Amino acid sequence: MVEIQLKKGEKFAVLTAYDATTAHFLEEAGIELILVGDSLANCVLGYTDTKSISLEEMLHHTRAVARGAANTPIIGDMPINTYTNPSLAVINAKKFLGTGAHGVKIEGAKIEVVEALHEKGIEVMGHIGLTPQTAEQYKVQGKESGDAERLKDEASALEKAGCFSLVLECIPSSLAKEITESVKIPTIGIGAGKYCDGQVLVLSDVLGLTNGKNPKFAKQYADLGNEIKNAVKSFRDEVKGGKFPSEEFSYR
Ligand code: KIV
Repeated sequence: MVEIQLKKGEKFAVLTAYDATTAHFLEEAGIELILVGDSLANCVLGYTDTKSISLEEMLHHTRAVARGAANTPIIGDMPINTYTNPSLAVINAKKFLGTGAHGVKIEGAKIEVVEALHEKGIEVMGHIGLTPQTAEQYKVQGKESGDAERLKDEASALEKAGCFSLVLECIPSSLAKEITESVKIPTIGIGAGKYCDGQVLVLSDVLGLTNGKNPKFAKQYADLGNEIKNAVKSFRDEVKGGKFPSEEFSYR
């Protein structure tokens, strides 16, 4: 039985995954929790933002991730409009659990929704700060007067409502530190500096599988986009030049 074991005060690493193959590699590398983020929309499915993805698409990919990483906790990101009220949220969160996920993530301070999910024994990861499902602009949050207080209140309310962890996206490090110190649940930063308990990044940013430039906070650890391009070019050149398949790759 896989258990979610993120510990307050201990550093841990979370990454997104969207398919069985990469989920398997993440598990082999020792990632503590896999998030099937709705960033699936723009990172893999070719949508322009996360607002366009359907519940069915999210469930399909969460099932694949669960097949690839059977021993790692998996959280499914509930897409926009699938948790607009507590009863709808419970119905749809159960669909995620049916895919093999161990819990769900929702964006914003949806306190009644979290309470309803928690009451049904469903693990909920909260997500505040920059919340792409509703954001009008991608910019650092919590800098304008009143915003930092609001975010602190939201963190506290989400903890009380039953979240087991809280993603803090794109907020100043000092505010993330205050929030991390003020709640008992682990915080997971993305563009929120070093004081969060854990860190999450989008796998496509980490591996260099994006078309554009990474956001400032997203460190790129590999250049797979160019690796893919170079491998494909080599294959194409060898086929066109009659070099592939050689004897080595042929049957007698
Ligand atoms: O969809 C996603 O990948 C996310 C992370 C950025 C936290 O929500």
